[in-house]
Amino acid sequence: MIYGVDYYPEHWDSSEWRSHSKLMREGNFNTVRIAEFAWGRLEPREGEFDFSWLDEAISVLAEEGIKVILGTPTASPPRWLVNKYDIYMRDKYGRPRGYGSRRECCSNNPYYIERSKEIVTAMAQYYGKNPNVIGWQIDNEFGCHDTTHCYCEHCKKAFGSWLERKYGDIKTFNKTYGTVFWSHEYESFDDVILPAYNSCEPTHGDIRTHNPSLDMDFMRFSSDSWIAYAKMQTAIIRRFSDRPITHNLMGHFVDIDYYKLGETLDFVSWDNYIEDQWASHTYEEVSMAHEVMRGVKDKNFWIMEEQSGPCGWDVMGGTPRPGQLRLWVYQAMAHGCEGMVYFRFKAAPFGMEQYWYGVLDHDGIPRRRYYELQKTGEEMQKWGHLFQNAQTVTDTLIVKSYETGWSHRIKRHTSGFDYDGIVHSYYRANNHLGTNPAVGSEDMISDKYKVVYMPAYSIVTGTLKEKLENYVRNGGTLVLSYRSGIRDEYNNMTTLTLPGKLRELVGATVEEFDAASVDVKVSGGLGKSTVWRDILSADSAETVAVYDSEFYKGSAAVTVNKFGKGKVWYIGCDLEDDALYKLVKRISDDAGAEYIPHPVGTEAVKRISDGKEYTILLNYTDTPQTVSCGGADVTLVAYGIEIVMKGIL
Ligand code: GLA
Ligand code: ZN
Repeated sequence: MIYGVDYYPEHWDSSEWRSHSKLMREGNFNTVRIAEFAWGRLEPREGEFDFSWLDEAISVLAEEGIKVILGTPTASPPRWLVNKYDIYMRDKYGRPRGYGSRRECCSNNPYYIERSKEIVTAMAQYYGKNPNVIGWQIDNEFGCHDTTHCYCEHCKKAFGSWLERKYGDIKTFNKTYGTVFWSHEYESFDDVILPAYNSCEPTHGDIRTHNPSLDMDFMRFSSDSWIAYAKMQTAIIRRFSDRPITHNLMGHFVDIDYYKLGETLDFVSWDNYIEDQWASHTYEEVSMAHEVMRGVKDKNFWIMEEQSGPCGWDVMGGTPRPGQLRLWVYQAMAHGCEGMVYFRFKAAPFGMEQYWYGVLDHDGIPRRRYYELQKTGEEMQKWGHLFQNAQTVTDTLIVKSYETGWSHRIKRHTSGFDYDGIVHSYYRANNHLGTNPAVGSEDMISDKYKVVYMPAYSIVTGTLKEKLENYVRNGGTLVLSYRSGIRDEYNNMTTLTLPGKLRELVGATVEEFDAASVDVKVSGGLGKSTVWRDILSADSAETVAVYDSEFYKGSAAVTVNKFGKGKVWYIGCDLEDDALYKLVKRISDDAGAEYIPHPVGTEAVKRISDGKEYTILLNYTDTPQTVSCGGADVTLVAYGIEIVMKGIL
């Protein structure tokens, strides 16, 4: 199994590479990711490449049996490049991003694209068949530091062409967007603006005032632009190398449509920081992020950067507790990871990330974290095969859509509305119940899953409608919620009665809705709603719960409808965690979807590999926990894990 570290030989004197590599091998690491920010050293002057130092580093590592994932360094252009060419992104006020950090370049900038092609071609040609190079990582974290959207002249031009390809003629474009509103009709695609600054914005904070179809297409275009840039790199590499290509994604990040990005990658990898300056992530959020990453290609993935020490840029999060580093590996693998690479081998005393501690501290002396990872590495060499090509065993799918997320971000409905938060709450309820849901795109919907959740699924096309009808007709259970089916794919509101194209499936009508910030109790022990209430009238559906106050007291809040051999649940309001848990349990029981009961703070995840089924039990708390599994009680120590295999326990 791949068990590695991120290593930056260019940060150290070459005389240290040998001792570093030796420590890596002794730590049971067998892989490094390398070179991803080294453009300046690889191409010190335009068109002059120097691979000698990288050759030496790779061969020193190889002597210790360590293989290489080679990064293309395009996320950090060298000084000469920005001095010669204006490749900076522009913010919405037209200001250049400027030098001194990274990711300052625009994906539609012709100079940046050209220079990127040159360095990627040179590297792919030179290293494409190197026996020590086992894979490629293109660039680094597309979109990170809020760099997905650019408002430069190149983007404006590219956006015009993108729109022309999509709409064909300006009349169709105007009609689709409804540009007649506020006299926004355009005469040509060249003239279409980027939705940046306008006269309304300063007084309205983050409220967008552009045409919502324009906002939506700009988000699609920006995501597509980075994907095109990624494809440019993967196509070059594939000409010279047959090694698999990945990019390091960012879990819950939503500015780029990861389903589309995934199409150009051979496998997905991602960067998992559980506790750093920006967040202290709950275990459910981390498990869900793993599932989101697995869902990108509906395939197992790697971690390319896993937290190995305390970290942050200016301030730090907590240091991993004894046992947590080991626990996090098993958590990742339980959810589909099959290669683990730690960020970073040794902390850098200089540069922006001085506080980003690694496996080793600045003094390079192995301590607790190194030894814990060393021991875990030993286990991986013993047990890692159990997780290779393993498959998740689950009856439940949660569908997450980047575009639907954008539509909610563009027009947020009400201040308490948060699409990501809603999807998370459905994941949490399922995780606590133990259905261990997969998370993925609408393409993953199939009769493989007994229950499919599509909370707040705003954009519904004719194709999706048909797909959902087939799924339910054949016996599937579909769970929808408020604000589903309200829009078409152009981000316009549907003129159908809500829930729009889903109405027949739901068998109920949204008569009215209420977003007043009042607490409204929901019957059947479902607690209260505080953000949004669809006031439903059941047509063919059965009423499951009603509202207990306001003028809509007694109106349906939750319904269930029989459709073909299956059922459609409609949850008309936001619910607190306990209530959602109850409802998810009821839905799972009704659909016969399997779950493994376990205490909150633990997980029980079933996988199958080589025909062998096993359950991974994980304890995220700092006290012992008992989980019953396979007819026996298993006690997990604090941060402990156990693997229960049929016939063994
Ligand atoms: C990201 C990047 C790394 C590094 C770490 C720590 O995940 O991919 O290059 O910057 O964050 O900040
Ligand atoms: Zn641009």
